[in-house]
Amino acid sequence: MKFADRIGNLPPYLFAMIDKKVSEKRAAGVDVISLGIGDPDLPTPKNIIDALCKQANNPTNHRYPSYFGLPAFRQAIARWYKKRFNVELDPATEVLPLIGSKEGIAHIALAMCDAGDVSLIADPGYPVYNTGAILAGATPHFLPLTEQNDFLPKLDEIPENVLDKAKMILLNYPNNPTSATAPGAFFKELVSWSNDHGVVVAHDNPYSEITFDGYVAPSFLQYPGAKEAGIEFHSLSKTYNMTGWRIGWACGNATVIEALGRVKTNIDSGIFNAIQYAGIEALEGPQNIVSEMCDVYKRRRDLVMSALSRMGLMARIPKATIYVWVRVPGGYDSAGFAAHVLDRAGVIISPGNAYGPSGEGYVRLSLTIEDDRLAEALERIEKHL
Ligand SMILES: Cc1ncc(COP(=O)(O)O)c(C=O)c1O
Repeated sequence: MKFADRIGNLPPYLFAMIDKKVSEKRAAGVDVISLGIGDPDLPTPKNIIDALCKQANNPTNHRYPSYFGLPAFRQAIARWYKKRFNVELDPATEVLPLIGSKEGIAHIALAMCDAGDVSLIADPGYPVYNTGAILAGATPHFLPLTEQNDFLPKLDEIPENVLDKAKMILLNYPNNPTSATAPGAFFKELVSWSNDHGVVVAHDNPYSEITFDGYVAPSFLQYPGAKEAGIEFHSLSKTYNMTGWRIGWACGNATVIEALGRVKTNIDSGIFNAIQYAGIEALEGPQNIVSEMCDVYKRRRDLVMSALSRMGLMARIPKATIYVWVRVPGGYDSAGFAAHVLDRAGVIISPGNAYGPSGEGYVRLSLTIEDDRLAEALERIEKHL
């Protein structure tokens, strides 16, 4: 068999590899604790499950869903953006429901890039930014996010010859994996840079609701001119503990939304209607679960930060997200430290270089595990350091 070159160019998916490692170790009898994947351990709220069950019993929802999403779900998204970010969206043209935001993030490169075009990608970043570009035949160009620059890209340092071929830029704040946040001044600079250079912005915002210590995350779309500059991806996965449900959306620039919709309608058939009704309940039902969930993550963040400081490991205190981005101790690289922690402590952590070359020297710890198991994982790491 001879496979397409693009498959050869595609790295194995990080979290699928982590899943495999966990299974192998567990099969060998190791009590593995995984801090590798950002998959909320808390349950989806009952009101959302009840909405799904009710709608799943309605036979009209058993047929192909509308390609562009239920109008009622698109309207609920537009109302949520208005309420949460004071951003006006036209539900008919500026909102596109997705089968999880990962789907749209992978497909956007097909809508924007031809072979030879450049996709500018946050490095380190969510791995799908890179693989989406590769699958589209585009050339990914990494934008280093360094600690010295507060994990923000230096837009004015992108070489002219790269900029000439660049079609889009993929960024994400609050950030996975570094947990950095971006100030309003950066988003304003991004909008004017994008409008100057004709590079479409795809801002990925799934962690906007998971914030601590009074920090309120913005939407990229709330800055003047942003809708001319691009779109924002969002998701119900992390805000309402719905990773398994596969529901998110893209919103913003109508032309980009139309192009992404054209790719999607040719490839998939949309989200199960009953899940979209549950999505409306998530956005418009009681919201106290979100702040309760943030309290849980904050407690775990504090647990991790005090353990790291005991161990003499350096990490910035996250104001948002479900991750802590930790500098590896001297004498290790990212992969070496992650392997050491797995072999000696039976704890999975993600090596930073798996998120891009600038992630070298770091590992990512996820907060999506019960407090007592998290405490045990940290104790085991400390013991074997
Ligand atoms: C930065 C980022 N973007 C997108 C996603 C995908 O989320 P979804 O479940 O909506 O596909 C994730 C999931 O971990 C993520 O961390």
